[in-house]
Amino acid sequence: MPKFIINGGRTLSGKISVSGAKNSALKIIPAAILSKQPITLSNLPIIEDVERSFEVLVDLGAKISKNGQEVIIETASLNKSEMNPKLADKFRGSVMFIGPLLARFKEVKFPHPGGCVIGAGGRPIDLFLEGYQAFGAEIKEESGKFYNIKAEKLHPAHYFFPLVSVTATESMMMTATIIPGTTILQNCAMEPEIEALANYLNTQGAKITGAGTPTITIEGQEEIGAGKFAVIPDRIETGSFVILAAAANAEIEIENCNPEHIMTLLKILKKIGVNFSTGPDWIKMEKRQTPLLSHDIKTHEYPGFATDLQSPYVVLMTQATGTALIHETIYDRRLLWTDMLSQMGAQITMCDPHRVVVQGPTRLYGKRLMSPDLRAGIALVIAALIADGRTEIDNIYQIDRGYEKLEERLRALGADIERVE
Ligand code: EPZ
Repeated sequence: MPKFIINGGRTLSGKISVSGAKNSALKIIPAAILSKQPITLSNLPIIEDVERSFEVLVDLGAKISKNGQEVIIETASLNKSEMNPKLADKFRGSVMFIGPLLARFKEVKFPHPGGCVIGAGGRPIDLFLEGYQAFGAEIKEESGKFYNIKAEKLHPAHYFFPLVSVTATESMMMTATIIPGTTILQNCAMEPEIEALANYLNTQGAKITGAGTPTITIEGQEEIGAGKFAVIPDRIETGSFVILAAAANAEIEIENCNPEHIMTLLKILKKIGVNFSTGPDWIKMEKRQTPLLSHDIKTHEYPGFATDLQSPYVVLMTQATGTALIHETIYDRRLLWTDMLSQMGAQITMCDPHRVVVQGPTRLYGKRLMSPDLRAGIALVIAALIADGRTEIDNIYQIDRGYEKLEERLRALGADIERVE
C-alpha cells in the first residue's frame, strides 16, 4: 500500500497552483447523463475520485475521450441505469449518478454509496430518497442494501430540505433540469460548487435560477444540449495550502485560486496575525514576526467555516498561542483523527465527539500514521511538514482521492516528501 515519507522542518517557499475542484467535478461528470449531446470539460483534477466517476460512466455505456487537457463525455450510447456495486462502493461521489439516471431512464438501481466514514450511519442518503419521491418516484430497498427507484412519470416538485445538504441539493437540481415544469427547492445548500453546476447546466440550455441562495427554481426542459465548461478552482485545496503556509510561517504564493471562496478562513487568519495579500486568482502568504494567536471556530454550511478545512485548521492551532475550541457541527466522526495529532505531541482535549480544545504552541514530532479520510490526510501531511523528524503516512489512497500530484507540488516548495509504493 503506497505511503508518504516526510522529513519535517524544511523551509518552504515558492509557488503552488490549485487544481480544479473535486467537489465540482464529481457533480459535473454525472450531469453529462442529462444530455444526449457531448460535453467538454477542462481544468478537471486528475484524482482517484474523478477516475472512479469516469469508470461508472463507461460501465453505463458512455464514451469518454481526452483531447489534451480537455475531456469529452458522450452519453448518447448510455444503455443501462443499474450501477455496478463494485464501482459505486468506492466513493461518496457515486451518489451523484442517481438523480440524472432517474431523470433520463425513469428507473435506477444502485447500492448504498461508499466513501469516507465521517458521517453518522455511514453517510445517510435519506434526503436523496425523499427528494426523488417528491418528483413522483417509488423506492424499494432490495436485499443487500440495493435500492430500486422507479417512476411511471416524473413531475415537478416543490420541496423544502429538512436539513441543508450539498449533494442532495445538487442531485435534486440536476434531476429537475429535464422534468418539464417548475420545480422549487427551498433551504438549499449554497456552496460555490452548486452555483458552478447550475452555471454549467444553463450553458447547455437548462433554466436554473437562485443557485448559491437558499431557494433554487428550475424550469425543467424536455432536453438540454451540449456544453463546454472549465471546472472552478478547489477552495478546499486553496484553504489547505493557505493553512500550510501559515503553520510553516512560509512565503508561498497560491495560484489559480478564488480567494472569495474561503473568506471565513481568511478573516480568521487576518485576526490571528497571519500576513497575506490577495488578488483575483492568487493569495500571497507572507512571513509574520509576531506569534500566531489561538481562535475558536465552529464549522458551518457555506459561507461559514468549511468542515473540510477543520482538520488543517486544528494543525494550525497547535502552533498558535493559547487555547482554541474547535466545534465540528456537520459530521459525527470528523474529529477522531486528532488522536493521531496528539501522538505527534499536540495538546488536544476531546470534550465530546463534536468538540476539541487545542492548547498551543507545541512542537510536533514525526510518527507512523494512517490517513483515515482525505481531509484528515492532508492535515497529517501539513503536521508532518512542520514536525521534527520523519513521518510515515499510510493509506494515502485517501489523499490521492482529492489532491492531484500532491508530493510533486509540495517538493517544488522545498518539502522533503516522497511516495513509497
Ligand atoms: C459534501 O458532502 C462534500 N462532498 C463533503 O466533502 C463536504 O464535507 C460536505 O458536502 C459539507 O460541506 C461532496 O461534495 C462530494 P452534506 P455531502 O449532505 O453533500 C447529513 C470531502 O472531503 N445528510 O452537506 O455528503 C450528512 O450526514 C467531502 O470532499 C443526511 O443526514 O454533505 C451530514 O451530517 C467530505 N442525509 C449533513 O447532512 C442525507 O441524505 C451535511 O452533509 C444527506 C446528508
